[in-house]
Amino acid sequence: MKKIHLLATIMIAGVIGFTSCNQSSKNKQVVKKENFGVYKGKDVFLFTLTNKDGNVLKITNFGARITWIEVPDKAGKKENVTFGFDTYDGMINGDPYFGAVVGRYANRIAKGKFSLDGTEYSLALNNGVNTLHGGPTGWHSVVWDGEVVEKTEFPTIKFTYKSPDMEEGYPGNMDVEAIYTWTDKNEIVIDYKCTTDKKTVLNITNHAYFNLHGAGNGDILDHELVIKASTFVPVDSTLIPTGELRPVTGTPFDFTTHHPVGERISENYDQLVYGKGYDHTYILDNKEEVDATVYEPISGRLMEVISDQPGVQFYCGNFLNGKRIGHGGKPYNFRSGLCLETGHYPDSPNHPDFPTTVLNPNETFKSTTIYRFSVK
Ligand code: GLA
Repeated sequence: MKKIHLLATIMIAGVIGFTSCNQSSKNKQVVKKENFGVYKGKDVFLFTLTNKDGNVLKITNFGARITWIEVPDKAGKKENVTFGFDTYDGMINGDPYFGAVVGRYANRIAKGKFSLDGTEYSLALNNGVNTLHGGPTGWHSVVWDGEVVEKTEFPTIKFTYKSPDMEEGYPGNMDVEAIYTWTDKNEIVIDYKCTTDKKTVLNITNHAYFNLHGAGNGDILDHELVIKASTFVPVDSTLIPTGELRPVTGTPFDFTTHHPVGERISENYDQLVYGKGYDHTYILDNKEEVDATVYEPISGRLMEVISDQPGVQFYCGNFLNGKRIGHGGKPYNFRSGLCLETGHYPDSPNHPDFPTTVLNPNETFKSTTIYRFSVK
């Protein structure tokens, strides 16, 4: 699997001190921690991370979510490019997945069942006949512990969560860590680490929605997408993999060179019908540093996605319907945001030929995903 070298570079570069809530620190890097509310007896905080250029990332320990990414366009105008809510109530009652860390198993498990060493496990069904994103009270909907990591080069927050044995039906007590770093290159670096005390399955991701016009400003059909993947994972009408791995060549799924998301989305192609658009895992070629890019020509904003995982789920907001009113009172309409969720393929526990998602007690799962913003 591809290794990510970026963090090593960051560590070698040395330590520039900054302190939480210390506006007088020498550079502009600041982390602010505010009370956001209380959920099931636990304090929910909003962390505001500001990097050297004054660009802002907001994250919260409710679901370890990204709620705000404020980056400039080519004229220098800053705008938030991710879905979220201005208020605590909006967030708690809003879309369950916007910006969240999703687990224990991101994406779908067929009929909510899988077996390990002859024991069958049953999960709560929350997506028709299947289980989606770790179940109804998965990691997106719990309050994580959150702390500011001091004396790092860039603003950094560490979220941890203890997922109990049989939570949502999954075996093993699991210790989960998601560390967010907001670098001076406008990179959100997410480092995941998980251990278990019993054999289990794991597929962790971040479910941020992006619109590079600015969240709530129209649709994403003009966003030019590249995914460095020669193959994708076809699904059935319930979005469970059929087992086939299909080359993208000659199909509307070929994003090996850039295409606007909307260019071929209405073609009469079986997989576009099942997914109601794109809602599929791409098998990353993993040959280059960057795995996917999204470019929005009007603002000039570019987002690069870098992952060490075998796949990325490209979802283009086919289930959005304008009912969620987000930042600034703007509705999140049909296909007004896209997700690039790095991780394993859906339903891998029931497909022995897919890369394994089993985690054993003597192993540590470590993975890094980077979302990097720039203009061109
Ligand atoms: C994922 C799934 C989609 C949808 C969204 C959440 O990306 O693949 O089908 O369920 O999450 O709405």
